[in-house]
Amino acid sequence: MKFFLDTANLAQIKEANDFGVLDGVTTNPSLMAKEGIKGQEAVFSHYKTICEIVKNGDISAEVVSTDFDGIVAEGKKLAAIHPNIVVKVPMIKDGVKAMKWFSDNGIRTNCTLVFSAGQAILAAKAGAKYVSPFIGRIDDSGWDGTQLIEQISRIYTIQGFETEILAASIRNPLHIIKCAEMGADVCTCPLDSILGLLKHPLTDIGLAKFLEDAKKFS
Ligand code: G3P
Repeated sequence: MKFFLDTANLAQIKEANDFGVLDGVTTNPSLMAKEGIKGQEAVFSHYKTICEIVKNGDISAEVVSTDFDGIVAEGKKLAAIHPNIVVKVPMIKDGVKAMKWFSDNGIRTNCTLVFSAGQAILAAKAGAKYVSPFIGRIDDSGWDGTQLIEQISRIYTIQGFETEILAASIRNPLHIIKCAEMGADVCTCPLDSILGLLKHPLTDIGLAKFLEDAKKFS
């Protein structure tokens, strides 16, 4: 399972990249706004910087148009920023049509705002490279988001769909573990959730004891 960072924060992207486990980045308009980036030129330059930091990983850049012509025009511009850009398109009717166009024209897409197996089937039919079910937001509404990952994984395997399942809206380390267990191809996470995987009190206790004992022979 690949690890993507779900942020537009350059310091966090650099930290995760230096940590050595980073395979890509996803962003969305909310995450870009959080970093105070304004204007198309600044947004495009920010995406380019992210691509240059991560080097070999896919970077999702989201369109904000909602009609077919607008999505295609915007997506073409985003894809031209860097070969690693994946155009993120919402799960709406014109979005599905645009994803098919992108797929036919060699532009990779990430279908976002996915909350059901039916939407995941449509994304795969449209040739999306990634489908992004929003696990945390499903949990917020009283359902188990990881069950959706398992269902999509089963359907994609039975049907031979090549779209990769990119578990999004990850909120904690347990989400990452459950998504790995349920067959996600990618987890896009906040840095804290990835670093949370490191934690176990027995590791800390065990290391303290080893270091204490090491003093006896050093
Ligand atoms: O990748 C989608 C993600 O950014 C949404 O996360 O926490 O806003 O539901 P969240």
